Amino acid sequence: MAELKLRSLFHDPEHYVKAFQLYASLSAKFRVLANWGDNNFPKEVVEHLPFKLKGNEELRVLGIGSGSGEMDSKMLSMLLQKYPRITNRVVEPAVDQMVQYKALVQSKGHELQGVNFDWRQQTLDQYREAARDGAKFHFINAVHSMYYAEDVDSSLMYLYDLLEPGGKLLIITISDDSGFWRLWNHFPGYQDHLMHFISSADVRSSLDRRNIPYTQSHQKSRVEITKCLDETSKDGNLLVDFLIHIVKFKETASDAQYKEVMEYMLSGECSEKDGDEVLFINDWDAVMVEKRVT
Ligand SMILES: C[S@@+](CC[C@H](N)C(=O)[O-])C[C@H]1O[C@@H](n2cnc3c(N)ncnc32)[C@H](O)[C@@H]1O
Repeated sequence: MAELKLRSLFHDPEHYVKAFQLYASLSAKFRVLANWGDNNFPKEVVEHLPFKLKGNEELRVLGIGSGSGEMDSKMLSMLLQKYPRITNRVVEPAVDQMVQYKALVQSKGHELQGVNFDWRQQTLDQYREAARDGAKFHFINAVHSMYYAEDVDSSLMYLYDLLEPGGKLLIITISDDSGFWRLWNHFPGYQDHLMHFISSADVRSSLDRRNIPYTQSHQKSRVEITKCLDETSKDGNLLVDFLIHIVKFKETASDAQYKEVMEYMLSGECSEKDGDEVLFINDWDAVMVEKRVT
């Protein structure tokens, strides 16, 4: 008998946010991203923005799937050093995430002075449908959010079209040698929603097909997922949900499905061992696209 499809994390933003936050806290994700923000972002993006803005003109920034804003606010702080006036349009569908981002902005106070926020509680596809003001942007970022777009190739081209000539588009996704990529591709049929299990290779191939130039930087990252070994651990199971991107996987999968996923997830394809610890391979790539000035 065919197995029933399991409920994708895609359908449950509340569970998604809980699982993502646990993963992010374990992965020191924000630290790795923050390091990238501190070291690479000024050299690879800020320095290369060619715009000379006059008088009251603002740098227009668009964030896609900005979450609770840790990475975006860091990038804004760096941009403010060159462009003291910024409008930042935030496209984020999860209410909780947006509430947290707004609280972060409040707490940063002076640091983000000069940024005017324009909040859109929407998915990228809803934004695409609804935004009719023709706004173009000097800098656009999508940090680990392109997996959730309906059509990744067309969404990338949509974002590229929204750039001002000379503007930059930053797409951060898992790399093709990450554990996520291998895990998701190994079990493509378990979910009831066809997620776009993309890696940076898909981003690059969209750009290559159109001869759009880009640069890429690779980041090595490991996440300690030893908790997943304990089937009775609430956090361990929540972590498994995030890794396989299925809601309450332990409770809803058959024993055979659960065993198969866990074996593969803990194997050398997706993880490494360090003593008693299991480290998930979480490598990611930052792809930077510059829109040609024609
Ligand atoms: C992995 S989190 C990344 C958050 C943040 N950019 C970061 O790196 O910390 C993915 C984010 O994308 C958002 N998201 C989910 N579906 C989306 C969609 N269709 N369009 C835009 N954002 C989406 C989620 O709510 C979540 O905040």
